[in-house]
Amino acid sequence: MTQDITRRTIWMHPDGSGTVQVLDQRSLPHEIKAQTLTNVTEVVAAIQSMVVRGAPLIGATAAYGVYFACTEAAQQADPTAYLLDAFERLRQSRPTAVNLFWALARMQEAIATTSDFSQKADIALATAHQIVEEDVELCRMIGVYGLPIIEQISAAKNGAPVQILTHCNAGRLGCIEWGTISSPIYQAHQKGINVHVWVDETRPRNQGGLTAWELGQAGVPHTVIVDNAGGHLMQHGMVDMVLVGTDRTTRTGDVANKIGTYLKALAAFDNHIPFYVALPSTTIDWNLRDGLQEIPIEARSPDEVRYISGWDGSQIRQVLLTPKDSAALNYGFDVTPARLVTALVTERGVCAANEEGLLGLFPERKIGG
Ligand code: MRU
Repeated sequence: MTQDITRRTIWMHPDGSGTVQVLDQRSLPHEIKAQTLTNVTEVVAAIQSMVVRGAPLIGATAAYGVYFACTEAAQQADPTAYLLDAFERLRQSRPTAVNLFWALARMQEAIATTSDFSQKADIALATAHQIVEEDVELCRMIGVYGLPIIEQISAAKNGAPVQILTHCNAGRLGCIEWGTISSPIYQAHQKGINVHVWVDETRPRNQGGLTAWELGQAGVPHTVIVDNAGGHLMQHGMVDMVLVGTDRTTRTGDVANKIGTYLKALAAFDNHIPFYVALPSTTIDWNLRDGLQEIPIEARSPDEVRYISGWDGSQIRQVLLTPKDSAALNYGFDVTPARLVTALVTERGVCAANEEGLLGLFPERKIGG
């Protein structure tokens, strides 16, 4: 059976070799190709270089990295030291998306139930599969709870297209299937509700191209805009709601997401446009209260700002945009304070972006409760 590589972002290699394949997101939307991951070093590199990206997918890929690490550890003179080092390398791969640390903690707990390394590998593989399947369901449920928001706007507009603005890619490419922001959009589209998505191009890595590609695949009307256009569209009544994903949300509702999200939230606030954040609970960092002070913000290579890459008609090429000696600064994420967020859309429902709202949906997270 051939694998439809556009259906999921990560899967076991169909050749039965026990390796893992991912959709290579560096070449999308121009080339659709898979990359095979065979060891923990390749997993770390795939996360760092953004072959895979998006908070839930980073977590799931790291989980398979732990599986490889267990298999490799069994061949080492000191398997425990090897495994500890592998965990550390995975932990260091990207700093902002908390799903990475959530997945590693879950894997660590699961494999701690045995000291036998071949059993650890079996448990790690089964747990990685569970993380993948659970993410599909979490995202599906985000759609179930997010759909009524779109339906209400559609009804208020007598069926005219609901204009949704999004930033980065929080679609299925950042997850496994469905995606976070795209799940309500896909479910609305499937129900026959008119939606149109304004897709921020999202410099410097142009994740908007990924969003446009997957919306196109699903037949959802969309238009790509430059990152600076959102405010203008909002001022002219061309946006009904903003819907973005997140890489880490504090227990108080502060939201870290792709750099530029904060500016969209400010513009939305000024124009009285609702600003929603869709997230699975695996993206909530229950240990943090102050997003601005406590969420680690990734600084990536300045070359991602200085160069741009695109399709020249036959291949992907990079070209220099800036004077070659100019310095560039490349923070990957920013934090939108909870006060600018209209509501959080989770797999358990929609809540206010504050501790009370989140604990209403996740009472098991009450401290000392
Ligand atoms: O740098 P990236 O592409 O990994 O950043 C991704 C985002 O900021 C997404 O909005 C976020 O991870 C949510 S993915 C469902």
